[in-house]
Amino acid sequence: MTGGLRGDSVDRPEAPPRLGGVRLPWMGHALAFGHNPVDFLRRARHRAGDIFAFTLLGQPVVFLCGPAAQEAVFRADESVLSPREAYRFMTPVFGRGVAYDAEPEEMDRQIGHLLPAVTSRRLGAHAQVMEEEAEAYFGAWGESGTADLVATMNELTVRIATRCLLGPEVSHRLGPDLPDLYRDLEAGIRLAGLLNPGLPLPAFRRRDRARAAIGRALAEVISERRSTGSLPGTPRGGESEDMLATLLAARTPDGASLPDDTVIGLLIGMIFAGQHTSAVLAAWTGVLLLTHPGHLPPLFAEQKETVGEHGPLTVPLLRRMERLEWCVREAERLHPPLVVLIRKALRDFRHGRHVVPAGTLVMVSPAVSHRLPTVFSDPDLYDPDRYAPGREEHTVPYALIGFGGGKHRCVGMAFAYQQVKTIWSVLLRRYELELGAGPHPPDYSTFVPAPQAPCLIRYRRCPAPTRPVRTAKAFS
Ligand code: HEM
Repeated sequence: MTGGLRGDSVDRPEAPPRLGGVRLPWMGHALAFGHNPVDFLRRARHRAGDIFAFTLLGQPVVFLCGPAAQEAVFRADESVLSPREAYRFMTPVFGRGVAYDAEPEEMDRQIGHLLPAVTSRRLGAHAQVMEEEAEAYFGAWGESGTADLVATMNELTVRIATRCLLGPEVSHRLGPDLPDLYRDLEAGIRLAGLLNPGLPLPAFRRRDRARAAIGRALAEVISERRSTGSLPGTPRGGESEDMLATLLAARTPDGASLPDDTVIGLLIGMIFAGQHTSAVLAAWTGVLLLTHPGHLPPLFAEQKETVGEHGPLTVPLLRRMERLEWCVREAERLHPPLVVLIRKALRDFRHGRHVVPAGTLVMVSPAVSHRLPTVFSDPDLYDPDRYAPGREEHTVPYALIGFGGGKHRCVGMAFAYQQVKTIWSVLLRRYELELGAGPHPPDYSTFVPAPQAPCLIRYRRCPAPTRPVRTAKAFS
């Protein structure tokens, strides 16, 4: 049984067990959690079980694990478990009155305005942009060389996200500064933000400067587009399918255009939600593939069979790349870009025999849940075939939660998968790759843990377009 606590319950509810171990007054387990949240939660679960309580910077936290608990958390009414109250530290990124800073009904309406930008028809237009950007980026690599895989994926997804979400004018205005600006936005998410995202920390100041710079550029573009009447449906040189166009066409329930601040906040929020997360998923997809070269031959065969040598990469073709999709999903499972998801209990929340008191931060973890042997066989093993017909381990409800679940499940998942598949389809067909000697552990010093730097790849252009990428040995 889950939901608000019922006073007439016959079984006596219990508080979740408190975690022992090294903890400081008020700080609680903040040092261990901040150092490596995944290792901390995995070890703690091993000791304390699927539900336990601990403290982070004076904030009581309850961690829950397992498909049933995750379903309960994702499906709880927002008056019981609130994403809004949990993610308030994002307000400096989204802006006042936008997304988590809006009332739940208003946030739903705002997210609803984004949906036309991620429909199948729009994904078709995005596919073209994604392929063009990937071909141009890797085309500039030349015959052979060395690159950092994480930096590569970051640069490329900055270009794709900017064009598909903000529109080409923003790229022209901010140009080479964009990667640094996006990085400063993401790096402004810190544990200290739970306390107060307005603290005078250098990371928060850089976050605010980046937000202001992107906001200014967007305000200029919006004013231009509004004054030239370039609204969606009105072709704008093939670029009218971006998310900015979608939001300029959106109407409030009383028929008015969305305020500029809402459009700007939502777009910056989408960049924040979708760019670096996609870069990290693309990087892990590569690291895992290149360290398990035995999985490459069937991928080459799939590329040859679906897209052949030249493309273009359409949505139907990308959908037929099932095996590539399993590899992306296996990267999502083993290294989910968001390692913890949170809600704030506004009322007592009951799960099974446990009751989580109002005021607690409720936490679930894709990184912990994805390694449960009760759901995923041999969970630490890289095994993309676990998603093949007949096994389909991902179909256990609320077990694979790299994109969340329930009402607040990620709206950009199809976009993100399409982007990562496009990037790897181009790379697999164009280059022979080797990954630098490992290990390549996750870097938990950032909010979205990427493979630790340096994560070098050596590349050599395939002599003939038909020749598949080959890679096996690592270089040092
Ligand atoms: C690999 C890339 C991505 C990952 C791993 C990811 C992950 C997630 C997760 C876990 C959530 C749920 C958060 C929660 O319940 O607490 C979420 C929500 C969301 N994501 Fe993504 N995301 C990705 C890409 C994107 C992209 C590309 C976009 C937009 C184009 C996007 C937009 C959103 C939005 C708007 C929400 C909030 C939905 C709501 O609260 O109703 N995401 N994402």
